Parts: sequence; C-alpha cells; structure tokens
Amino acid sequence: MKTLMILAHPNLKDSVANKHISTEIAAQFNHFEISDIFNQYPDFKIDVEAEQAKLLAADTIIFQFPFFWYNMPAILKQWFDEVFSFNFAYGSKGDKLRGKNFLLSITVGGPEEAYTPIGYNHFAIEELIRPLQQTAYLSQMNYLKPVYTHGLTYVPGVYNTKEVVLQRADNHIKKLAAVLEGITNTSAEVRIERFVKDWFAKFDVLADASSFTPYINNDTKFQFVEGEFTGIKGFETWYTNIKNILKPNNEHRIESIIIQEENNAFDVYLTIKLKAEKVSSELLQLNVKEHWKLVLTTNGQIQIKEYIVNEL
Ligand SMILES: Cc1cc2nc3c(=O)[nH]c(=O)nc-3n(C[C@H](O)[C@H](O)[C@H](O)COP(=O)(O)O)c2cc1C
Repeated sequence: MKTLMILAHPNLKDSVANKHISTEIAAQFNHFEISDIFNQYPDFKIDVEAEQAKLLAADTIIFQFPFFWYNMPAILKQWFDEVFSFNFAYGSKGDKLRGKNFLLSITVGGPEEAYTPIGYNHFAIEELIRPLQQTAYLSQMNYLKPVYTHGLTYVPGVYNTKEVVLQRADNHIKKLAAVLEGITNTSAEVRIERFVKDWFAKFDVLADASSFTPYINNDTKFQFVEGEFTGIKGFETWYTNIKNILKPNNEHRIESIIIQEENNAFDVYLTIKLKAEKVSSELLQLNVKEHWKLVLTTNGQIQIKEYIVNEL
C-alpha cells in the first residue's frame, strides 16, 4: 500500500500545523511519499505527466492543506485543474484513478462553533468541501471521511500559542494515522463488512451511481429482483430505474451477514429487510437473500464479481 501526500502550502517555512502534520505522519508509515507542490511549482507551471505518474503509483492520496477562504490554496486548485485531466481522471477513458483512496487532511483556522448555522462562517466544513468530494466521485475514487481540525492558526500574541496549535496538530495526526491504519492493516473480513454496510447506507439515500461504480467492472454480473444486468452500464441502467421508482431515505436492514474467504475471493451471504417508499407514496417491504462474490485486487481494492438477489 503506497501513500502519496500532496502537500499544498504557499508558505511552508512559516507554517506550524501543516509542517508538523506532514513531517510526523510521514515518519509513522512505510511507503509514504510527500509531494510539496508549491515548492516544486512556485511559478504554477505544473509538470502534469510527472504528477500523473505519481498518482498512478499510489494507492492512497492524501491532500494536505490549510483552509484558505473556505477552499484549497490556489496551487492545489491549479494542480487539480491540470492533473485531473480528461481521459485521465474522467471521460470515456478516464479511469486511471479508479478505486484509489482520496483523503482530505485540512487545517482550519476558525473554531468549530464558527462553522455552524449560527456561527460567523455559517456552513460546516463538509458542506464547504463538497466540490472536492464530487471530484473524487467523478474520478471514481474512494472518498474517505475527511480529517480536519479547527483552531490551528498561530499568530504570536494574537491567535493561540504555539504549544496549543502543536497539541491540536498532534490530535490531527492521530486521527489521520487511524484512517491510514484502517486502510492498510484492517483484516479483509472487517473491510468487507464495512464495505457492505457502507454500500447499503449509500443505497438508503440513493447516492449518485458514481459512488458505487468504482467497485464494479465490465463483467460484473447482477441478478436483481428486476432482472439480470452486466457491468457498470447494466448497473447504471438498473439504478436509474430504481431512482425513478423510490424516494430517498429508505432502510436496508442487514439481518445477517456471513463472509467466507478463499484465496482473496470472498462469498458474502446476506439477508436484508428493505423498507422503502415509492415515489407514488406506496410503501414497499421486501425480504431478500443476497449472495455477493467479491475479490480483493493486488492493490487491496474491493471489486464485485457477482451480485445475486433473491426475494424471500
Ligand atoms: C490567505 C488565508 C486565508 C485563510 N482563510 C481561512 C478560512 O477561510 N477559514 C479559516 O478557518 N481559516 C482561514 N485561514 C487560516 C488558516 O487556515 C490557518 O492559519 C492554517 O490552517 C494554519 O496552518 P499552517 O500553520 O500550516 O499555516 C486563512 C489563512 C490565510 C493565510
């Protein structure tokens, strides 16, 4: 598992939080590379091929940056605009980042209470970073829960003491390390169970198809109650139809889950109780048995081979 940190700070020399976080986290993990993009491209002339090659070699990409005007620093925006290009990150051949982990690690100056409806910044960080979340989805990447910490501005005599900022940055490092450990060391069974739960949680809210497709390939066989479908296109056809029939906020209750492993291939047996409301307001209650065949690819990504649903 290779981790690449894209570090974007226009004044790292005077940074407290980002400097501390990037140095300390890199020391804790093997196969961890930091790419300090402002240092490499102070003139904003980005070597797109070199950056894309770094991404191709990584399994997890951490974006480490200070929150500037409710957004990423300009160098990182320039980097996304050029590096996440057509037929690389998106477009008909743009699947080069598919399945890679996308992890935001953000230092925020303002306090937590400012980022609430009655606070002076009004919106939570999660809301302000939606464009990045959608960037991950469009690029078929695996968007992980972002790690961010408030109250990290250090201006001597004005905002905080260095000790307090470093202490908060240490907590940030712990949170980031926990996420990375979760990706790298967790047993396959635990990961698969989480994957299944996350899958149904996304179904419950009728999330965008792009949050499912990174785990599907062109041969994936689906047998739904509505019929048989193949691959990403098949899934999208079925899902579009489901989204036309159901209202969001349904409940897929996992009544039982059994995971059996053989040579990195997993059989998952599920019984699911579905409670849903149709667009017509008719209530739908369905008990189904599911059998999924999953594989873990050599770089640790989960892929669905078969997905069979039978009504009970
Ligand atoms: C140009 C600029 C814009 C900033 N905008 C915000 C902002 O929108 N919200 C916020 O909470 N903090 C903001 N800050 C504070 C920084 O996020 C904070 O100082 C930084 O995360 C601390 O990390 P560092 O020690 O690595 O520089 C801003 C700082 C600068 C210099």
